[in-house]
Amino acid sequence: MHRRDFIARSVTALAAIPALSASSSALSLESAVATALDPSDWASVRNQFELRRDRIHMATFLLASHPKPVARAIEKHRRGFDTDPAGYWGEHFQTAEPRVRAAAAEYLQTEPGWIALTDSTTMGLGLIYSTIQVDAGQEILTTTHDHYATIKSLKLRAERTGASVREVALYDQGGQTTVDEILTRMREAITDKTRVLAVTWVHSSTGVRLPIAEMSKVVAEVNAGRDHSDRLLFCVDGVHGLGIEDASFDELGCDFLIAGTHKWLFGPRGTGIICGRPHAWEAVEPVIPSFGPSVGVWLGALPPDSEYVTPGSYHSPGGFHSFDHRWALDEAFRFHQAIGKERVEARIHALNTRAKQALAEMSNVTLHTPMDEALSSGIICFEVDGHGPREVTEYLAGKGITASASPYPVSYARIAPSLINTEEEVDRTTAAIAELSA
Ligand SMILES: Cc1ncc(COP(=O)(O)O)c(C=O)c1O
Repeated sequence: MHRRDFIARSVTALAAIPALSASSSALSLESAVATALDPSDWASVRNQFELRRDRIHMATFLLASHPKPVARAIEKHRRGFDTDPAGYWGEHFQTAEPRVRAAAAEYLQTEPGWIALTDSTTMGLGLIYSTIQVDAGQEILTTTHDHYATIKSLKLRAERTGASVREVALYDQGGQTTVDEILTRMREAITDKTRVLAVTWVHSSTGVRLPIAEMSKVVAEVNAGRDHSDRLLFCVDGVHGLGIEDASFDELGCDFLIAGTHKWLFGPRGTGIICGRPHAWEAVEPVIPSFGPSVGVWLGALPPDSEYVTPGSYHSPGGFHSFDHRWALDEAFRFHQAIGKERVEARIHALNTRAKQALAEMSNVTLHTPMDEALSSGIICFEVDGHGPREVTEYLAGKGITASASPYPVSYARIAPSLINTEEEVDRTTAAIAELSA
């Protein structure tokens, strides 16, 4: 295979979305008339997005469309930078990132100083896992359900330190799993050597949502018998839970929550956060120098123990970024809070339950995502007898529905009803799957 073909195929595999045909890719954008957001009205929420109306978008969890408030903020910053790059930066750099951290902290009901700003989930995972304290002879425990970004960054860490990485299956059949099964398997997998537990809140491989709060309690039990320096660190890739589940950082209870904010949260593309507790931040080292207040310390303008140097600012990779995107992230958190975290969660769960109920009635369809709302969230993975995942997504693409195939060694077709969908769109999607499976 030519190198160019290989790269093209790899990229397509990661996106796992069938290409649109030439005719359907011709832009037929029916510009959404964006009136002011009425957060109590789902049609008004939907109208904040310029998503093309000739498709049903069931894979926006891969990459967000920017809702109007986010798009407007990006545009404002872009204009500022385009007209006076150095001047605009100089005027805003000291206040913009603290403002974004404050909005993220309010959303997670936690401390702004605990939040680092990144460009993606993958960057966040890479930053944490590339330096997390683990020695030769110790072990990093992860799962067979995790994303490439977790698996690969842990493998790289193991190669550099001599620590081992072990993958455990928390369930065999996603569709049938229970909280009990997950907790039992987790408890049994942790040994005296386990120093890091790396999991994903909502598996994009199966749609299973892990009971993170209950898992944190198991971690606390393990840590009760350990020295502080040897405590088990519980790290969570939260990208498919953030922006759906109404949970605070304390309720989750993990040590690190790492997530891109450019999927369910509808933040600017190329943004993400890491939220970490102070003792957890002490167990990692910054890889890329921050451009935050630590520059002031270096220049002698701030004392080394300046209160402005928080773990979050210190661990946010520095350098000049696409600030027009990063500085607009606070609007995405505000957008969700204007609607209400509780209502967002209820809406996405209701649409997903509606879709799963329809799929469960199809004799030739196997659901790999639990029906139980406590163990599922916004992603539904399924198989149609006699049709591979690619064939399913291509069939749906032909019906004007964008779905995706999970980019994992065992791949399933996926749909992800979200805030931008209606009940009618869910019904049309499941009707198309029924037609294929008949
Ligand atoms: C569970 C999980 N983690 C990480 C990623 C990568 O996210 P990002 O694009 O923010 O790096 C994905 C991809 O969508 C994913 O499904």
